[in-house]
Amino acid sequence: MSLVLDPTAQDLLFREARTANTFTDEPVTDEQVQAIYDLVKFGPTAFNQSPLRVVLVRSAEGRERLVQHMAEGNRPKTATAPLVAILAADNEFHEELPALLPHFPQAKDLFFSERPARESAAGLNAALQAAYFIIGVRAAGLAAGPMTGYDAAGIQKEFLDDDHTPLMVVNIGKPGEDAWFPRSPRLSFDEVVTTV
Ligand SMILES: Cc1cc2nc3c(=O)[nH]c(=O)nc-3n(C[C@H](O)[C@H](O)[C@H](O)COP(=O)(O)O)c2cc1C
Repeated sequence: MSLVLDPTAQDLLFREARTANTFTDEPVTDEQVQAIYDLVKFGPTAFNQSPLRVVLVRSAEGRERLVQHMAEGNRPKTATAPLVAILAADNEFHEELPALLPHFPQAKDLFFSERPARESAAGLNAALQAAYFIIGVRAAGLAAGPMTGYDAAGIQKEFLDDDHTPLMVVNIGKPGEDAWFPRSPRLSFDEVVTTV
Protein backbone atom coordinates (compact mmCIF):
# COMPACT_ATOMS: atom_id res chain seq x y z
CA MET A 1 0.00 0.00 0.00
CA SER A 2 2.98 2.26 -0.49
CA LEU A 3 1.83 3.49 -3.91
CA VAL A 4 -0.98 6.02 -4.19
CA LEU A 5 -1.60 5.40 -7.91
CA ASP A 6 -4.70 3.28 -8.52
CA PRO A 7 -3.66 -0.40 -9.03
CA THR A 8 -5.49 -0.49 -12.38
CA ALA A 9 -3.35 2.42 -13.55
CA GLN A 10 -0.23 0.70 -12.20
CA ASP A 11 -1.08 -2.35 -14.32
CA LEU A 12 -1.88 -0.24 -17.38
CA LEU A 13 1.37 1.70 -17.21
CA PHE A 14 3.76 -1.00 -15.97
CA ARG A 15 2.80 -4.48 -14.72
CA GLU A 16 0.57 -5.51 -17.60
CA ALA A 17 1.96 -3.15 -20.22
CA ARG A 18 4.08 -4.98 -22.75
CA THR A 19 6.25 -4.12 -25.73
CA ALA A 20 4.12 -4.97 -28.78
CA ASN A 21 5.52 -6.70 -31.83
CA THR A 22 2.29 -7.00 -33.84
CA PHE A 23 -0.63 -4.61 -34.14
CA THR A 24 -4.27 -4.49 -35.23
CA ASP A 25 -5.08 -2.08 -38.05
CA GLU A 26 -7.07 0.24 -35.75
CA PRO A 27 -5.74 3.73 -36.55
CA VAL A 28 -3.93 5.92 -34.06
CA THR A 29 -5.19 9.48 -34.49
CA ASP A 30 -3.35 12.78 -34.29
CA GLU A 31 -5.69 13.65 -31.40
CA GLN A 32 -4.42 10.65 -29.44
CA VAL A 33 -0.79 11.61 -30.11
CA GLN A 34 -1.51 15.19 -29.08
CA ALA A 35 -3.17 14.01 -25.85
CA ILE A 36 -0.12 11.83 -25.15
CA TYR A 37 2.29 14.72 -25.75
CA ASP A 38 0.19 17.16 -23.74
CA LEU A 39 0.42 14.76 -20.79
CA VAL A 40 4.07 13.75 -20.97
CA LYS A 41 5.46 17.21 -21.69
CA PHE A 42 5.20 17.76 -17.94
CA GLY A 43 7.83 15.12 -17.22
CA PRO A 44 10.92 16.74 -15.68
CA THR A 45 14.14 17.57 -17.56
CA ALA A 46 17.30 19.44 -16.63
CA PHE A 47 16.77 23.21 -16.81
CA ASN A 48 13.29 22.38 -18.16
CA GLN A 49 14.85 21.92 -21.58
CA SER A 50 12.66 20.23 -24.15
CA PRO A 51 15.01 18.52 -26.63
CA LEU A 52 12.64 15.74 -27.75
CA ARG A 53 11.41 16.01 -31.32
CA VAL A 54 8.87 13.62 -32.85
CA VAL A 55 8.42 12.78 -36.51
CA LEU A 56 5.14 10.93 -37.15
CA VAL A 57 5.49 8.69 -40.16
CA ARG A 58 2.00 8.51 -41.66
CA SER A 59 2.36 8.37 -45.44
CA ALA A 60 3.00 5.09 -47.28
CA GLU A 61 5.95 6.74 -48.96
CA GLY A 62 7.42 7.83 -45.60
CA ARG A 63 6.90 4.35 -44.19
CA GLU A 64 8.79 2.82 -47.09
CA ARG A 65 11.66 5.26 -46.62
CA LEU A 66 11.81 4.36 -42.91
CA VAL A 67 11.54 0.57 -43.19
CA GLN A 68 14.60 0.34 -45.43
CA HIS A 69 16.73 1.70 -42.57
CA MET A 70 15.34 -0.69 -39.94
CA ALA A 71 17.17 -3.88 -38.94
CA GLU A 72 15.79 -6.92 -40.74
CA GLY A 73 13.91 -8.24 -37.68
CA ASN A 74 12.25 -4.86 -37.07
CA ARG A 75 10.97 -4.40 -40.61
CA PRO A 76 7.66 -6.34 -40.59
CA LYS A 77 6.32 -4.62 -37.45
CA THR A 78 7.51 -1.20 -38.59
CA ALA A 79 5.80 -1.75 -41.92
CA THR A 80 2.47 -2.76 -40.35
CA ALA A 81 2.05 -0.72 -37.15
CA PRO A 82 -0.80 1.81 -37.45
CA LEU A 83 1.55 4.63 -36.56
CA VAL A 84 5.33 4.94 -36.31
CA ALA A 85 7.12 7.78 -34.55
CA ILE A 86 10.76 8.69 -34.92
CA LEU A 87 11.97 10.20 -31.64
CA ALA A 88 14.99 12.47 -31.94
CA ALA A 89 17.10 14.78 -29.79
CA ASP A 90 17.39 18.42 -30.87
CA ASN A 91 21.00 19.41 -30.21
CA GLU A 92 20.08 23.07 -30.66
CA PHE A 93 17.44 22.99 -27.90
CA HIS A 94 19.18 25.87 -26.16
CA GLU A 95 17.51 28.36 -28.52
CA GLU A 96 14.22 27.78 -26.69
CA LEU A 97 15.75 27.70 -23.23
CA PRO A 98 15.16 31.36 -22.26
CA ALA A 99 11.45 30.93 -23.01
CA LEU A 100 11.28 27.61 -21.15
CA LEU A 101 13.29 28.83 -18.17
CA PRO A 102 12.17 32.45 -17.76
CA HIS A 103 13.53 32.76 -14.21
CA PHE A 104 17.08 31.87 -15.39
CA PRO A 105 17.53 32.82 -19.04
CA GLN A 106 21.31 33.08 -18.61
CA ALA A 107 21.46 29.26 -18.48
CA LYS A 108 21.49 29.19 -22.28
CA ASP A 109 24.89 30.89 -22.54
CA LEU A 110 26.30 29.79 -19.20
CA PHE A 111 25.89 26.04 -19.78
CA PHE A 112 25.04 25.42 -23.41
CA SER A 113 27.20 27.68 -25.57
CA GLU A 114 29.33 24.69 -26.66
CA ARG A 115 27.90 22.03 -28.96
CA PRO A 116 29.36 19.01 -27.05
CA ALA A 117 27.63 20.17 -23.86
CA ARG A 118 24.37 20.53 -25.80
CA GLU A 119 24.66 17.09 -27.39
CA SER A 120 25.29 15.48 -24.04
CA ALA A 121 22.35 17.26 -22.37
CA ALA A 122 20.05 16.70 -25.35
CA GLY A 123 20.88 12.98 -25.39
CA LEU A 124 20.04 12.49 -21.73
CA ASN A 125 16.99 14.72 -21.53
CA ALA A 126 15.41 13.68 -24.82
CA ALA A 127 15.86 10.04 -23.72
CA LEU A 128 14.01 10.89 -20.52
CA GLN A 129 11.26 12.49 -22.57
CA ALA A 130 11.18 9.44 -24.84
CA ALA A 131 10.60 7.26 -21.78
CA TYR A 132 7.78 9.54 -20.65
CA PHE A 133 6.37 9.29 -24.18
CA ILE A 134 6.31 5.48 -24.04
CA ILE A 135 4.44 5.57 -20.73
CA GLY A 136 2.10 8.18 -22.23
CA VAL A 137 1.32 5.80 -25.12
CA ARG A 138 0.33 3.23 -22.52
CA ALA A 139 -1.79 5.80 -20.68
CA ALA A 140 -3.74 6.23 -23.92
CA GLY A 141 -4.59 2.50 -23.85
CA LEU A 142 -2.16 1.79 -26.67
CA ALA A 143 0.97 -0.33 -26.89
CA ALA A 144 4.40 0.95 -27.84
CA GLY A 145 7.17 -0.95 -29.58
CA PRO A 146 10.36 1.09 -29.15
CA MET A 147 13.33 0.10 -31.32
CA THR A 148 16.94 1.14 -31.72
CA GLY A 149 17.73 -1.58 -34.21
CA TYR A 150 18.24 0.61 -37.26
CA ASP A 151 20.80 2.47 -39.30
CA ALA A 152 20.92 5.72 -37.31
CA ALA A 153 22.93 7.62 -39.91
CA GLY A 154 20.44 6.55 -42.58
CA ILE A 155 17.43 7.70 -40.55
CA GLN A 156 19.13 10.97 -39.69
CA LYS A 157 19.87 11.66 -43.35
CA GLU A 158 16.44 10.58 -44.55
CA PHE A 159 14.23 12.37 -41.97
CA LEU A 160 16.33 14.71 -39.85
CA ASP A 161 19.38 16.97 -40.19
CA ASP A 162 22.78 17.46 -38.56
CA ASP A 163 21.21 19.11 -35.53
CA HIS A 164 18.84 16.25 -34.78
CA THR A 165 20.02 12.84 -33.55
CA PRO A 166 17.69 9.83 -33.76
CA LEU A 167 16.97 8.25 -30.36
CA MET A 168 14.51 5.50 -31.17
CA VAL A 169 11.71 4.53 -33.50
CA VAL A 170 8.41 3.64 -31.78
CA ASN A 171 5.62 1.55 -33.27
CA ILE A 172 2.27 2.53 -31.78
CA GLY A 173 -1.12 0.84 -31.86
CA LYS A 174 -3.40 -1.76 -30.35
CA PRO A 175 -1.60 -5.09 -29.92
CA GLY A 176 -2.40 -7.69 -32.56
CA GLU A 177 -2.13 -11.49 -32.55
CA ASP A 178 0.89 -13.00 -30.79
CA ALA A 179 2.03 -9.49 -29.96
CA TRP A 180 4.39 -10.39 -27.14
CA PHE A 181 7.73 -12.04 -26.76
CA PRO A 182 7.91 -13.97 -23.45
CA ARG A 183 8.12 -11.60 -20.49
CA SER A 184 11.77 -11.44 -19.41
CA PRO A 185 12.80 -11.21 -15.77
CA ARG A 186 13.71 -7.90 -14.14
CA LEU A 187 16.38 -7.23 -11.56
CA SER A 188 15.06 -7.19 -8.02
CA PHE A 189 15.15 -4.22 -5.70
CA ASP A 190 18.04 -5.76 -3.76
CA GLU A 191 20.11 -6.23 -6.90
CA VAL A 192 19.71 -2.60 -7.92
CA VAL A 193 19.45 -0.48 -4.82
CA THR A 194 22.18 0.23 -2.32
CA THR A 195 21.94 2.61 0.58
CA VAL A 196 24.83 4.54 2.02
C1 LIG B 1 15.35 1.91 -26.36
C2 LIG B 1 14.76 0.57 -26.75
C3 LIG B 1 15.23 -0.06 -27.89
C4 LIG B 1 14.68 -1.29 -28.29
N1 LIG B 1 15.06 -1.82 -29.49
C5 LIG B 1 14.41 -2.92 -29.94
C6 LIG B 1 14.64 -3.39 -31.27
O1 LIG B 1 15.41 -2.83 -32.04
N2 LIG B 1 13.94 -4.49 -31.67
C7 LIG B 1 13.04 -5.12 -30.87
O2 LIG B 1 12.42 -6.10 -31.31
N3 LIG B 1 12.79 -4.68 -29.60
C8 LIG B 1 13.44 -3.59 -29.13
N4 LIG B 1 13.16 -3.10 -27.89
C9 LIG B 1 12.15 -3.78 -27.06
C10 LIG B 1 12.70 -4.38 -25.77
O3 LIG B 1 13.38 -5.57 -26.02
C11 LIG B 1 11.52 -4.60 -24.80
O4 LIG B 1 10.91 -3.35 -24.56
C12 LIG B 1 11.94 -5.20 -23.47
O5 LIG B 1 12.48 -6.47 -23.66
C13 LIG B 1 10.76 -5.29 -22.50
O6 LIG B 1 9.74 -6.06 -23.06
P1 LIG B 1 8.31 -6.13 -22.35
O7 LIG B 1 7.78 -4.73 -22.31
O8 LIG B 1 7.46 -7.01 -23.22
O9 LIG B 1 8.51 -6.69 -20.98
C14 LIG B 1 13.68 -1.90 -27.48
C15 LIG B 1 13.23 -1.25 -26.32
C16 LIG B 1 13.74 -0.03 -25.97
C17 LIG B 1 13.18 0.66 -24.75
